Parts: sequence; C-alpha cells; structure tokens
Amino acid sequence: MNHVIIAGAGHAGIQLADSLRTEGYSDRITLVDAETGLPYQRPPLSKDFLAADGTPELVPLKARKFFADKDIELVEANPIVSVDRHERAVTLANGDRLPYSALVFATGARTRRLVAPGADLGGVHHLRSADDATRLRSELAAARTVVVVGAGFIGLEFAAAAVDRGLDVTVVELGPRAMGRAVSAQISEYFQRLHAARGVRFVFDQTVSAFEGDAERVRAVVGGDGRRYPADLVVVGIGVEPNETAATDAGLRTDNGIVVNEYLRTDDDAIWAIGDCARFPCRHAGAPIRRESIQNAVDQARTLAATLTGRPTEYHHSPWFWSYQGKTKLQIAGVARGDGPITVVGDPGEGKFSVLRFDETRLVCVESVNHPAAHMAARSILSTASPISQEELAIVAFDLKLAARLSRTA
Ligand code: NAI
Repeated sequence: MNHVIIAGAGHAGIQLADSLRTEGYSDRITLVDAETGLPYQRPPLSKDFLAADGTPELVPLKARKFFADKDIELVEANPIVSVDRHERAVTLANGDRLPYSALVFATGARTRRLVAPGADLGGVHHLRSADDATRLRSELAAARTVVVVGAGFIGLEFAAAAVDRGLDVTVVELGPRAMGRAVSAQISEYFQRLHAARGVRFVFDQTVSAFEGDAERVRAVVGGDGRRYPADLVVVGIGVEPNETAATDAGLRTDNGIVVNEYLRTDDDAIWAIGDCARFPCRHAGAPIRRESIQNAVDQARTLAATLTGRPTEYHHSPWFWSYQGKTKLQIAGVARGDGPITVVGDPGEGKFSVLRFDETRLVCVESVNHPAAHMAARSILSTASPISQEELAIVAFDLKLAARLSRTA
C-alpha cells in the first residue's frame, strides 16, 4: 500500500494532506509533527495574539474533525529523527519506525538565535511558535521598555503591537533600513516614518554585542559600538533557518534549504520538500531560492499533490506576501531582482499607494500599502506569461486594475 509521510504540520504539510485527498489519493497519510496540539496559524501570533484587547487563543489550521474525516493520521510531539532511504522508512523520536512510499519534508524553519553573552537571560524572547507567543504575552503586561532586535517583519509587527500597549520601543537593526531583505527603499522609509511617528526609535547599522541583566532578567541591550539600550523585555527577530537536519543526515543535498527541482523533488525519487524548508529553482527570482511565506507553502503543497497523484506539475507560482503593522497593511506581489526602475502610484502622504518595480523590460514586483485592489490587480498581471512593461503601463497612467483587465483580454 502507498503511504505518504509528511514531516511537519504547518501550512505546507496540512495543505498537502488536504490536497492529496481532494486529488483522490485514498491510501495512507501520516502527518508527523514536533509540536503538541492541533496545528495552528502563525500570522496572528505577532499581531492579534499580542494585543492587549486581542484574542490570545490559537487559531487552528484545521479542526480535530478534519483529520478524522479525511483519514489523516496526525502524530504529535514526535518528529522524524532519521530516514533510512534504502529501506524507505523513517524513525520517530519515540523509536517508532514507519515505512513510506513518499516522504515529504514540510519542516519549515526555526528562529535564528543571536549568539551573544546574556542571550539566555529572562526577558529575551524569540517569536515563532505558540509557546514563544504565550511566554511573550505573559510578560508584556509588566513590561515598560522594550528593545526589538531586527527591523524585519517580526520586529516591526511586534513593535506596532508594543506601541499599541503604550510601551517604550527601540528597534536595533543590523542593516541600513527596515525590512531591507524584502522591500524597496521607498517602502522601508514609509514604514520607518510610520512607526517613528507612533514613538518607535530606530537604530540602524548597529550590531548587538551583549545583553546585560541581573540574576532575574535582562536590563539592557549593548550595541557593537558600546551604546546601551535599556530594556526590561527584548524580542529578537533576526530571521529564520530551515529545519533540514534530518534531510542532511539522510545524505540529501541541502544548501540553506533542502534542494529540490521544479517538481519539488530531491535527488531521491521518493523524497520531496515544500514550504519554508525547500530550496527550489524560482523562475521569478532567476535563481534557486528558499521562500518564507504562506502563499509559497500552500501553492507548493497543491502543486506537489498533483504530482503525487499522477499529474507531474512544475512549481512556478508568482509569489505574494502580506504584513499588517498596526493598522497599516503591506502587500507584496512578485519579486524584485536588485534595484531596477521604480514608479510610485498614489500618494504615500495619504497612506494609500503602490511601488511598482521593474527590471529592464517589465513589471516584476508591486508593493502596495493599504491598497488591496492594486495588490490583486498586480497579482493578476504578474501571473500572466508576459508581464507588462513600464512604457505599456504609462499608456494606461499606471492604472493597475485597467492593465489587469487589458492583459486578461489580450
Ligand atoms: P526577516 O528576515 O524578515 O528580518 C530579519 C531582520 O533582522 C533583517 O532586517 C536583518 O537585517 C536583521 N538582522 C539580522 N541579524 C541581525 C543582528 N544580529 N542584529 C540586528 N538585526 C539583525 O525575519 P523575521 O522578521 O525574523 O521574520 C522571520 C520569518 O517570519 C520570516 O520568514 C518572515 O517572512 C516571517 N514572518 C512573516 C510575517 C507575515 O507573513 N506577515 C510576519 C512575521 C514574520
């Protein structure tokens, strides 16, 4: 009998199990996870979950009934520790050995740790899992002065939540601007101003050399230049690293991610990888990349379900992403390669605009602030085979909705 084992019950793993059933796969599915309890949504953990008036309940990805109805075996708190590729069997942490016909790594990523003296002091937090968020929430009510290390998505979403609670917030970032990994300089600047106007202080081009504290908890963050930033609570959001140890140990190729081809298959015909842990050839980026987003997790899962049920399908979805920071919504469609030409549409002063990013010849990425209609139009345009050029868009006065309609009828 066929047996698909999925390692990791996050967005990618759950979607794969669901899509396999939708595609008509009727044999055994086992979803193996390291955490206990029903798999849950991560996005609210850095937003609503932390708000003083928010709902500190986890939002399950699926109800318990889903697993029973779909005949999906969920194995909790018992991750895969080794893979016997020759015998096609995995061993779980409790010693159980399970044979597979297909093994899928959907193991996601874990927070990167800041290696510095005092990093294990009380009051120093990371934020990725429900446990992380619960610990952090329990300390927020008593906190007054917060330092956030990293001006990425976690850092800024958390900073917005902390300011809403009336806390004093300083963000210390290694790079020269906010969200530098993911967005244009225009968007970085907009969000920096937005947060600064609400009281957040930013320190750029600064490393962290130590956390100072007493026996109980952290009292300050020390910068590389010796400057001290007082803190009774610290959140470190300096990126993630893929969970790939079991794959590496099994002799699979890893390179900041489990290396897969267009079909999301590793060098082993029976082993696949999807979501945050997979390094795949991306047509949009023009290189193999790892992508950390729910869209990527879900779309890769759906694509792989088609392949595993007899319709081999390459993964080429156009990426998109969102981040809520306070009341402001950032949505990104596509992927920019370096610093090409840019057109700003709308008025940043009014808090509703888009940054259109081009390579030499065509639109490759649209970053929209509080403009969901522009974002949806951008996704439509960018998913077509031959996206539009800056000149063509100029003819329609950079009206993305009109351009999307025209490209659909072309
Ligand atoms: P990130 O990669 O977005 O940002 C990390 C930031 O930390 C970067 O600006 C980087 O320059 C900075 N940094 C790195 N080392 C540093 C150091 N030693 N000192 C100071 N700054 C340093 O990663 P982040 O924010 O940790 O998020 C983790 C993951 O969670 C990402 O995959 C992100 O996409 C995801 N996420 C997604 C959200 C969403 O969908 N809205 C919300 C929050 C997180």
